Amino acid sequence: MAMRKRSLLTVIGVVFLVLVMTGLALAFDKVRFAVISDPHISIPQQKGVSDGFKLGLKTVMLTESAVAQINKIPNLHFVLVGGDLTQDAEPWNVDEVRRILDELKVPYFVVLGNHDLSRVPHEKKDQPVTLSKYTVAGAFVGRSGGMVPGMTYYSHPLAKDLVLIALDASRAQVFSPEADLNDYGGKIDPGQMRWLEGVLKANQKKTIILLTHHNLVPWGEGDKANHNNYGWFRMDNADEVRALLKKYGVKLVFSGHRHISTRYQQIDGTYFFVHPALSTYPMRYTVYELTPQELSWEVKNVPALADVWELAKKNFMDNKWWRGPDQPDTPEGNQKYLEFYESPGTMKGKIAYR
Ligand SMILES: [Fe+2]
Ligand SMILES: [Fe+2]
Repeated sequence: MAMRKRSLLTVIGVVFLVLVMTGLALAFDKVRFAVISDPHISIPQQKGVSDGFKLGLKTVMLTESAVAQINKIPNLHFVLVGGDLTQDAEPWNVDEVRRILDELKVPYFVVLGNHDLSRVPHEKKDQPVTLSKYTVAGAFVGRSGGMVPGMTYYSHPLAKDLVLIALDASRAQVFSPEADLNDYGGKIDPGQMRWLEGVLKANQKKTIILLTHHNLVPWGEGDKANHNNYGWFRMDNADEVRALLKKYGVKLVFSGHRHISTRYQQIDGTYFFVHPALSTYPMRYTVYELTPQELSWEVKNVPALADVWELAKKNFMDNKWWRGPDQPDTPEGNQKYLEFYESPGTMKGKIAYR
């Protein structure tokens, strides 16, 4: 009897061990996370901040509102932040965006956008002091768990066999005498390309989420035609970066910068998702659920008073610059303009990416 009990215990022990070992060998099961982008924090106390296409005076409130909503999501694992954290890298706005993001109950991971680096050459004394991108990135070291000292891009494990790669795509050439201060373009420089290939090589069996402010694909007619320099919404070397992603089988790429609501394109087996801004109509964030095979999502409006929504939409409709060549201020053009930015067909969705 004692013998049988002992062998039963052994069998249970072996089964338990096997279960533990297989459990350890399995990739992540299901991960829930939110993506916010383009908060463009500009504290209202600063001179010259106003409510235009970007609701400058409302940026703090809108980002706080999104964070409060995201904190209510059960079983959330982390939050990704798609860049353009600040108006233009002013120290007080860096402090403020970090204060708000620190309110998140889960870890958050940021990338820098074209507005998160010094845009003002020193000789322009009438402009506010702005910080270099290394200083802005440094503000997030040890906060979000991603940024490391002296770098503006990083990789970070999010779960078992799930890795985040966060790029810095801004061109950052504002101190050259020929620099165009309105240049909002992007590029992955050769050093970062070599780093990226190294990270991809080291993580070939894992699921990668690539987070970048600038896009790797065009989203509208204007982007393709370089209308109003819309070519700058996409990285200069997007083709080169995409070829590298294809080589290493990267399936999921998340971006911001374009200020249109969540939508995606699939090219050569890679899914490119773009994300709405918190600071411009239609102020939204996205909640994802990821398994090793599938990605599903739901897009949510940032809670705000009706008059804030009204103002956001009015300023959006009044804007000329953000209208593509196929979106003039005519009844038909307005419809196209709204549909392009609201993307009503992709408020919810699901893809089998593997
Ligand atoms: Fe932006
Ligand atoms: Fe941007």
